[in-house]
Amino acid sequence: MSDTDRIRMFAVGPDDPEEKREWIEALERAIDESSFCLGSATERFEFRCQEFLGIPHAIGVSSGTDGLKVALAAVGVKPGDEVILPAYSFFSTASVIAQLGATPVFVDLDADTLCICPQNVADKINEKTAAIMPVHLYGQTAAMDPLLKLSVKYSIPIVEDAAQAFGVRYRGKPAGAIGAAGIYSFYPTKNLAAAGDAGMIVCQDDELAGRIRSLRVHGDVGGYRHDIMGWNARMDGFQAAILSVRLDRLVKQQAVRTRNANEYAEALRSLDLIERVTPLGRTDGSDHCWHQYIVRLEARDRLREELSERGIDSAVYYPSTLPQQACFAHLGHVEGDFPVAESAARMVVALPIHHRLQEGDPTRVVTAIHEVVGTLAG
Ligand SMILES: Cc1ncc(COP(=O)(O)O)c(C=O)c1O
Repeated sequence: MSDTDRIRMFAVGPDDPEEKREWIEALERAIDESSFCLGSATERFEFRCQEFLGIPHAIGVSSGTDGLKVALAAVGVKPGDEVILPAYSFFSTASVIAQLGATPVFVDLDADTLCICPQNVADKINEKTAAIMPVHLYGQTAAMDPLLKLSVKYSIPIVEDAAQAFGVRYRGKPAGAIGAAGIYSFYPTKNLAAAGDAGMIVCQDDELAGRIRSLRVHGDVGGYRHDIMGWNARMDGFQAAILSVRLDRLVKQQAVRTRNANEYAEALRSLDLIERVTPLGRTDGSDHCWHQYIVRLEARDRLREELSERGIDSAVYYPSTLPQQACFAHLGHVEGDFPVAESAARMVVALPIHHRLQEGDPTRVVTAIHEVVGTLAG
């Protein structure tokens, strides 16, 4: 098989020479304006996001991780507090909590969507709980209505990890701005992708937005005065310039991802694979940006090897749960504490779904899966 026939997992960098030229023009403008750390390029991108998402505050930061740390601090998370989060996500969903001196309180997932299970959240709320942090995993939101009810009942802010869900809506509200605040990541493999690290915090409240803007610049409240301590979490002007170009193309690219997801679902159905190679369920009320197309099966690792030999890349997000990480061993969790998350870590596989796939590629992937699964059964 030639390298060009390979179905790759990612589509990073400009799509074509025209987009590359647009990047260069955007970078030239940032250079001409000396817009390097925050500045005009970041302000333009922030304004574009506010319009695109229909929210009052979109605040550019250096990465999704830094955004999480700033957002949690802005809603008041401090040493000694607890923050409730799902046991299965990218590592920094948990590490930022610990870095603020708070304790990550892991809970198990909804078995159908692999997003946080609201009932498990309710069971863990106590007087130390300072925030609830759902993760909108793979591109659809968690079930937000029951979480919002808990947030109101106990006056606990929700900080959404919407790193994988830019532009997604839950009952009409933009992911990230449903609770108190939320973040996006623009890491180069995300749907809206920078050419390096970049992220964004969104919120509806003016006062909270002011605190976030201050915390991303060392807690400066103007004139080198620091009433609180923050971090250097400024957005890079070059990344903002490129992201503005990419935002223009996002709607078209999302349509291709949706087409790919539909083709996967149809091919899995028509080859009668749904029972053995199970796609995730959908959160009621959420749309989906298809950051990842996930299926689950027992022989995941074997399938991946066989697909690779047939010229098809795949990936695993994530091979272990957060409580299984050695750096959280002191929390004392043992195998069996989070059965849904643990089985996800063993069984999930992400299939290529990016916007450069051609029509027919998902069918080719599923046909190969069918072939492999047939051999496994035999
Ligand atoms: C769910 C989740 N949370 C947080 C992050 C961190 O974002 P970043 O890589 O921009 O720091 C990511 C990105 O990898 C993510 O997927």
